[in-house]
Amino acid sequence: MEEQIFVYFIGTAGSGKTHLTKAFSDYLEFKKIGHIIVNLDPGADELPYEPDVDVRERFTLEGIMEKYKVGPNGAQIIGADLVGTIADDLKDDIELYDAKIVLVDTPGQMELFTLRRSGEVIVRSFGRENGVVVFLFDPIVSKTPSGFVSLVFMASSSIFRLNLPQIPVLSKVDVLEEREVETIVRWSSDPEELYSDLTLESDKTLSLELFLMLKDSGLFRPLIPVSAVTGQGMDDIYDGIQEVFYGGEDLERIFG
Ligand code: GTP
Repeated sequence: MEEQIFVYFIGTAGSGKTHLTKAFSDYLEFKKIGHIIVNLDPGADELPYEPDVDVRERFTLEGIMEKYKVGPNGAQIIGADLVGTIADDLKDDIELYDAKIVLVDTPGQMELFTLRRSGEVIVRSFGRENGVVVFLFDPIVSKTPSGFVSLVFMASSSIFRLNLPQIPVLSKVDVLEEREVETIVRWSSDPEELYSDLTLESDKTLSLELFLMLKDSGLFRPLIPVSAVTGQGMDDIYDGIQEVFYGGEDLERIFG
């Protein structure tokens, strides 16, 4: 079987990972590109899509709470660690499908996936060279310069921990005004303007040295505005994946 591409949707709690996974799946469906969805969140309640491979078939948050006599927070942590222990089984399940692209919906709280070992173990098992992260910038947090910079730090920590290329997106842009989207996208491509707006935000400071270090490390990257509701930006995510793996060559032709 030819190599599969793994697209990991990562972002802070409620940033829209699950709905973006579904929207991008619909987009691939429309383009007739074979793909499957993997749900890695044992605590997922109702999903807007039918997962092809689902960690909840092995354990759920409720089951963990009962078995280990812990509350929901403890169960989230145990659940995240357990995901790592079944990485190879999940990979076997995925290989049963002849899917070109595997969309991976990660657990609600991103730190459970990126900071604990499970994320690393999953990425290694699924294949690091075949992976790319779609990192979601929450639209409400991104509205202030300090919130935006904080998300740049979080996106950077996920690059650092998982060692995967990243396509940064501004999620749920349908809830923002057009000028807000423009401002946030401009911050992402013009860090000097961001720094200048940051200094205007009351009581928020970031040393110029640290800011310049972030900028010089290439950690500010132009954001793609996306919406799972309107479908905006799906083409751009697709182009981003093509760029990462095939230097812009059309995946449809390669997979065709
Ligand atoms: P957790 O895994 O629970 O942390 O959330 P998540 O990051 O997977 O986010 P999810 O897709 O569950 O979306 C959170 C909320 O935002 C839900 O109420 C969605 O209906 C809503 N939402 C997601 N995407 C969009 C979008 O593009 N536009 C709008 N308006 N709402 C969205």
